[in-house]
Amino acid sequence: MIARPRLGVCYYPEHWDEELWPTDALAMAELGISRVRIGEFSWSRIEPHPGQFDWEWLDRAVEVLASQNLGVVLGTPTACPPKWLVDRYPEILARDAGGHLRKFGSRRHYCFSSPIYRAEAARIVTAMASRYGMHNAIVAWQTDNEYGCHDTTISYSDAAATAFRDWLKKRYGDIQTLNKAWGTVFWSQEYEEFAQIDPPSGTVTEATPAHRFDYWRFSSDQVVSFNSLQVEILRRLSPGRDIVHNFMGFYTEFDHFAVAQDLDVAGWDSYPLGFTEQFWFSESEKREFMRQGHPDIAAFHHDLYRGCGRGRMWVMEQQPGPVNWAAFNPAPLPGMVRLWTWEAIAHGAELVSYFRWRQVPFGQEQMHAGLNLPNNKPDVAYFEVRQVAEEISKLDSSSVSKIAPVALVFSYEADWLLQIQPQAKNFRWLRLAFEMYEGLRSLGLDVDIVPENGDLSGYKLIIVPSLPIAGNKFVATLGQLRVPVLLGPRSGSKTNTLSIVPNLPPGNLSELLDITITRVESLAMWWREAVRIKEREFHGLVWREHISSSLPPLATFSDGAGAWYRKDHIEYLATWPDREFLNYILSELALRAGLEPQRRDLGVRTRDRGMMRFAFNYSAEQRRAPAPANAEFLIGGHDMPPASVSVWRLAQG
Ligand code: GAL
Repeated sequence: MIARPRLGVCYYPEHWDEELWPTDALAMAELGISRVRIGEFSWSRIEPHPGQFDWEWLDRAVEVLASQNLGVVLGTPTACPPKWLVDRYPEILARDAGGHLRKFGSRRHYCFSSPIYRAEAARIVTAMASRYGMHNAIVAWQTDNEYGCHDTTISYSDAAATAFRDWLKKRYGDIQTLNKAWGTVFWSQEYEEFAQIDPPSGTVTEATPAHRFDYWRFSSDQVVSFNSLQVEILRRLSPGRDIVHNFMGFYTEFDHFAVAQDLDVAGWDSYPLGFTEQFWFSESEKREFMRQGHPDIAAFHHDLYRGCGRGRMWVMEQQPGPVNWAAFNPAPLPGMVRLWTWEAIAHGAELVSYFRWRQVPFGQEQMHAGLNLPNNKPDVAYFEVRQVAEEISKLDSSSVSKIAPVALVFSYEADWLLQIQPQAKNFRWLRLAFEMYEGLRSLGLDVDIVPENGDLSGYKLIIVPSLPIAGNKFVATLGQLRVPVLLGPRSGSKTNTLSIVPNLPPGNLSELLDITITRVESLAMWWREAVRIKEREFHGLVWREHISSSLPPLATFSDGAGAWYRKDHIEYLATWPDREFLNYILSELALRAGLEPQRRDLGVRTRDRGMMRFAFNYSAEQRRAPAPANAEFLIGGHDMPPASVSVWRLAQG
């Protein structure tokens, strides 16, 4: 049996008159909400003066919520050190690449490497966990808030420089090893001792790639250890409660698998319209999905964070209406908040929590919708949440999510490496990974997103969008598999310290298929490189490799050179496929994997959960659910209006 999914809400009692709290709590409970996240920005109210705590208001807020049986997810307040703390210890502030201080006045103005800030964070977390750790109403803790938000993972402060030197010393042992690994003989950059090494900023032109790469790894490790510092305190003082962090969308600056290793659940904040507007989507996609969000954004992150959370995932913040932070902030089509909620549940979310209970009339986010308007009348999403709450009781709670048929291998390091050395303005690893995910999902295939060192057994098909550093262990694992594996361009091309592999790309992957990449070229945004398969023409974008091989190619560029190779179960792609080419490749692979790829109608997506199939209509037009004529529907039916959901039982066996 798995527990029924829950609904939650983000709430800031400190923003409202205390008289409102009891009616808010009652209204939440009546709406079907059972979890409330509070506290993550409350430091200045908890500790208004150094060492002087004011817990009474928070005690009362927790009691009011508890009186309605609402379980509290309490946030540690470390994303917002108060003014007195910053004034007392200005060295806790982060510095940007230009050396500018990231000052007090908004949020996330701390440097992960500051020993003073770590001590202060430990102090406030200890105080909070000592007060509430054993309170019955506290069901979970959220550490900090959105690590890295507002570009705050990488800091160039003095504290970071000191910590980086220590980190390098541990990694390389002696300076000559580092010099060799980084290739510092190039441009006379050799160091005599670790103390001479600065963070890679402010250089005249590009800093040494290996230096930048290590700085990225170091910065990621700082987030991991900052989080585990909090987790250790919470586990000790509040045993038995889930510990979660709310990660972000399309955000790769630190290794989320590594941070989540210390957590019980990976949470994430889902803002599909904001993400559609902010990221790389074409104008026509933006137009098509302006009020629905691109149909794969939420699903991609559900799968990624379910992977990070080793099967456990929460949506900690769900977009309820227009947000305030994208370039343009349209309103969701009526029905989308319900659809997003069901999409999350279909992907195994244990909790979907809306941001926020009520739109706040002051401060930076006054233009951000909530479930209620600032005058406390329900906003559009309120009614959609009510509908979901009613529908959840129809869910078959005994169904357990199985593993998906397809694994997509996700590597944060791959994204960093290719951001440091893109070789083409428009080569972004994350985008390539997303497009491959989109390609799979448009064929109706469910996907698990797994780390490169994750368990790949049991999958029928494995997609590696690109893995520039292919370790021996990974290569050996691939060799032992018996299912189709697709390796994207640039796989195996680099050493661990960002040099070209000695035997030319794809390095040790050439043990699996005999190919050598003798030249690479990147292609302008407006160029489409023709690719032929028999009589059909497709296109490669952004990137092309020139391969010498004894194998016959499966597809060729117009000059006859190979664009796609296969040896046994391993396949290699020498370009970034456009949508049609990708669709062809993935359909082929899926068929050989024994799957049944079925191209979904534009804007329609599906996902199985246990013995149920969910269909989502992300288009602004009527669609038909891809269900058998005699399907037994639990929600909706064959006809799917825009922004609607249909759920039916899958036949046994
Ligand atoms: C998230 C953040 C919240 C709030 C929200 C607004 O990034 O965690 O605190 O700012 O965005 O959409």
